[in-house]
Amino acid sequence: MSEPIRVVVTGAAGQIAYSLLYIIAKGDVFGPNQPLILHLLDIPPMMGVLEGVVMELADCALPLLHGVVPTADPAEAFKDVSAAFLVGAMPRKQGMERKDLLSANVKIFKVQGEALDQHAKKDVKVLVVGNPANTNALVCAKYAPSIPKENFTAMTRLDQNRAQAQIAAKTGVPVANVSNVIIWGNHSSTQVPDASFAKVVKGGKTLSASEAVNNDAWLQNEFIETVQKRGAAVIAARKMSSAMSAAKAAGDHMRSWFLGTEPGKYVSMGVLSDGSYDTPKDVVFSFPVTIENGKWQIVKGLQIGDHYRQLLEATGKELVEERAEAFAIIEA
Ligand code: NAI
Repeated sequence: MSEPIRVVVTGAAGQIAYSLLYIIAKGDVFGPNQPLILHLLDIPPMMGVLEGVVMELADCALPLLHGVVPTADPAEAFKDVSAAFLVGAMPRKQGMERKDLLSANVKIFKVQGEALDQHAKKDVKVLVVGNPANTNALVCAKYAPSIPKENFTAMTRLDQNRAQAQIAAKTGVPVANVSNVIIWGNHSSTQVPDASFAKVVKGGKTLSASEAVNNDAWLQNEFIETVQKRGAAVIAARKMSSAMSAAKAAGDHMRSWFLGTEPGKYVSMGVLSDGSYDTPKDVVFSFPVTIENGKWQIVKGLQIGDHYRQLLEATGKELVEERAEAFAIIEA
């Protein structure tokens, strides 16, 4: 068995973390032979709640969990970590303007970028879950100049999983038989779920999603909208935002990043745009990527149809606006 790695989860007393910590600590993310020490960061008023989470982690009696460090100090939380799940963020409260939310959150991600820069391992892999995830990841990367920019990513895996599940339900196959559904752009309602290149294994044959669904109008309209609005649908039903599925997606994202993608398959991640597919450069944009030896690469050469090209432009525009607002707040 190898030496334990240190993994930080922020927002550790919150609802996503409550599912995520178990997924990580039981070995679903870094593999069954990788012991770990979990660093749990939350804000001072949540230390009492966090103590309860620490008790429960102990009571899970998980063999891979070699230690737990609960703290409200970013310096201690980020010390020597190899992986960072940045989940903690200020939730939107009633009457709060989008700008107020952005303002509170970009400041948190500036502080955490600086703490990562000073204390984390230089090859730390950072996944931002807290919203607005794409722009928070960009801010975090900017304030951690000693860590490569490609080590900062934002989560759109939940959107990918939702999209895969919709196609599986529509075609009557298990979800594992659906692959290569893409989420382009921002993790917001402008995101672009795109099944143009998706594959569905049905009746022993590999079909395109278009062949398997046999309803292109559904794929270009209802499917896209359902995925875009799925988060709101869960809130309406549960009166709380997606947590179990968000935690599963965060685990999936980091697992793919550490352990790689399967041959012929790709996953979607928010990564620093190099301008591929005429997207704006230097925003964190969700692309299909393949991963080998811990390095992601944007899948190139896909022929994007006109319908999707327009949608990609709109989500890119939103990210450029969000970037301008975020840096105006920080530099004010
Ligand atoms: P929650 O409100 O239950 O937990 C958030 C936790 O973060 C709280 O314990 C809070 O005290 C903590 N926190 C606040 N500021 C912090 C700071 N500066 N440092 C450390 N911890 C801090 O929220 P939940 O449901 O766990 O969601 C967390 C975030 O994830 C939200 O921003 C939510 O919008 C986002 N989200 C993103 C998804 C994605 O697909 N990218 C999907 C679902 C949620």
